[in-house]
Amino acid sequence: MTAILDVQNLGVRFPSGGRDILAVRDVSFTLYKGSTLGFVGESGCGKSVTAYAILKLVPQPGIIDSGRILYQGRDILRMDDDEIRKVRGKEIAMIFQEPMISLNPVFSIGYQISESIMLHLRMSKREAREYSIELLKSVGIPDPGKRYNSYPHEFSGGMRQRVMIAIALSASPSILIADEPTTALDVTIQAQILEMLLKIQEERQMSLLLITHDLGIVANIADEIAIMYAGEIAEYGRSIDIFKKPGHPYTRGLFKAIPRIGDPRSELATIPGMVPSITSPPTGCVFYPRCPIRIKKCIQAPVPLLHFANKRLVRCIRYKD
Ligand SMILES: Nc1ncnc2c1ncn2[C@@H]1O[C@H](COP(=O)(O)OP(=O)(O)O)[C@@H](O)[C@H]1O
Ligand SMILES: [Mg+2]
Repeated sequence: MTAILDVQNLGVRFPSGGRDILAVRDVSFTLYKGSTLGFVGESGCGKSVTAYAILKLVPQPGIIDSGRILYQGRDILRMDDDEIRKVRGKEIAMIFQEPMISLNPVFSIGYQISESIMLHLRMSKREAREYSIELLKSVGIPDPGKRYNSYPHEFSGGMRQRVMIAIALSASPSILIADEPTTALDVTIQAQILEMLLKIQEERQMSLLLITHDLGIVANIADEIAIMYAGEIAEYGRSIDIFKKPGHPYTRGLFKAIPRIGDPRSELATIPGMVPSITSPPTGCVFYPRCPIRIKKCIQAPVPLLHFANKRLVRCIRYKD
């Protein structure tokens, strides 16, 4: 397996009146060529900030204060504006939760895809139009020749998200970052879009960083999974290993929160408590206040990521292989 993106010890903080919010702390992970990494955690745990850091687009007033982000061996964090602009969209593309914000309401969707194609690829208007229609077809838009001239408001939420995916694919990126791409959509549409995304990922041998708060979504899709909690990685490893035996009590909590299809009685379990905002380096485990298996020792010293077989990492002193 060849690494295409290697994030090492990433730290991002947000200054806020003397007490910085340590939004991402010491986060490391590897995305392999042609594979899918699921990046999972509750709202506010640092998933989007990590994704933005990869494109050097951390929102104001955020500061990337440590780490390296190696894209094919080159550190993105050391690239100047020109270099990073060549990477964004063309090499690493990103799609977001709410496609309506990213689409311009005054231009037809065909125009918007063609513009993106011509920005990244050397194509004439006519070629770009043809390629746009081909892309619309590949993301599952019916009657793409006609739909080319439609406007965003004429599309449903699911169709708009397909259009956004078509735009993201227009430059044939080697990495696609999908930040909660189906969260705003209903369950049936979610499944269709994920299936389509996965098919394209395989066909193109693209690497996919799939960000979600829903562990159920990555279950059948991801090769590897990183579980984030309060700005740090709680667990990381091959998806089959994590599904067979979740190591961190937080991961187990997320599993319990997955609704079971076909079981109307299944109550959606939630993990009591909230993700804390971290403003100073924790003295012990950050999950301690919510942990069902905590012991005194857990808050006596910071908990490192512990290594197990098959490159499995678990940030819990109570986990045994
Ligand atoms: N623009 C901002 N200004 C201040 N703090 C922010 C900003 N964006 C994110 N944060 C902080 O970073 C944390 C992680 O945010 P984010 O990565 O968006 O979470 P999520 O996992 O839901 O994508 C938030 O809980 C918040 O404390
Ligand atoms: Mg987010």
